[in-house]
Amino acid sequence: MRRVLSAFLFLALGLSALAQTLVVYSGRSKVLVDPLIRRFEAETGIPVRVRYGKDAQLFQLLLEEGRRSPADVFWANSVGALVRAERSGLFAPLAPEVLKLPVRFVPASGRWIPVTFRMRVLAVREGVSPEPPSSVLELPKVAAYAGRVGWTPRYSSFVDFVTALRGVHGEAEAREWLLGMKALRPQSYAANVPMILDLARGAIDLALTNHYYVLRVRYGDLKSAPKAKGAPVRVHAFADGDVGNLALVTGAGVLASSTRSALAERFLRFLLGEEAQRFFAEAVHEYPLRPNTPTPPVLLPLEAALRKSRWVDPEVFADTEATLRLLKEVGLY
Ligand SMILES: [Fe+2]
Repeated sequence: MRRVLSAFLFLALGLSALAQTLVVYSGRSKVLVDPLIRRFEAETGIPVRVRYGKDAQLFQLLLEEGRRSPADVFWANSVGALVRAERSGLFAPLAPEVLKLPVRFVPASGRWIPVTFRMRVLAVREGVSPEPPSSVLELPKVAAYAGRVGWTPRYSSFVDFVTALRGVHGEAEAREWLLGMKALRPQSYAANVPMILDLARGAIDLALTNHYYVLRVRYGDLKSAPKAKGAPVRVHAFADGDVGNLALVTGAGVLASSTRSALAERFLRFLLGEEAQRFFAEAVHEYPLRPNTPTPPVLLPLEAALRKSRWVDPEVFADTEATLRLLKEVGLY
């Protein structure tokens, strides 16, 4: 009898542990997420299970799973995925105490929170000549850059940039920009790090990328290539408000189907907490969104970075379909 009871108790404890396990669907990479999950588990005693994938795949999966989804949190790389999840009714409303944590970019819907942002930038080799223009729109007009530019036409942040370009300057101007850039015969890369390494060795002079790739190659961090430390590459600043300096927000929401929404909100508060925000800034050089988070000297101060960026309505980023059509039309996708 005692054995049966203890077996029953064991099963019950197992089930309650399962009931208390937080399930996160993460479009963010394991190298970034894993250390934070371990800290969250250690601090709270709440076990976490993570399913990794691309934003678009996880979004599809959430749609298919519907109310039966085991997921409690969707943590995404891109605003587009968050807005699509919100529009599809996947997210639960968040408490006002959670929504007031980030300094900027909180959506009017109140159904997800921004966690960090990355900047789309133009990386250049030191001494590039001529000095790049003050707007990314002028870049295709510099004939001297023919054959000297690198880009990653299939990379998600590049697609987000083109979506913003369409949203801010219109379809026709976006098409013209893409065709103008193509006429410069850019080198296409599948990934950013090899492109920045090519920039460092002088195979190209300019590269359209995200700010942290430049810092990774120059200063080293989680994903860096140490051999390129101190490489002669830097970020060119377009004029404040130019779409060439574009803040791309990452964020997370609690799923409406979650039965552990209190735990899930606790996880979101942790992501906006001092420790996690410092980690984003120091370990992967993303911009924190919790006010007064110290940023390493290699990052622009937060206010300066926010001033540089063109503000783009989050809704704009949801329309990646039309961007992919345009990229196909001009032969880039
Ligand atoms: Fe990236």
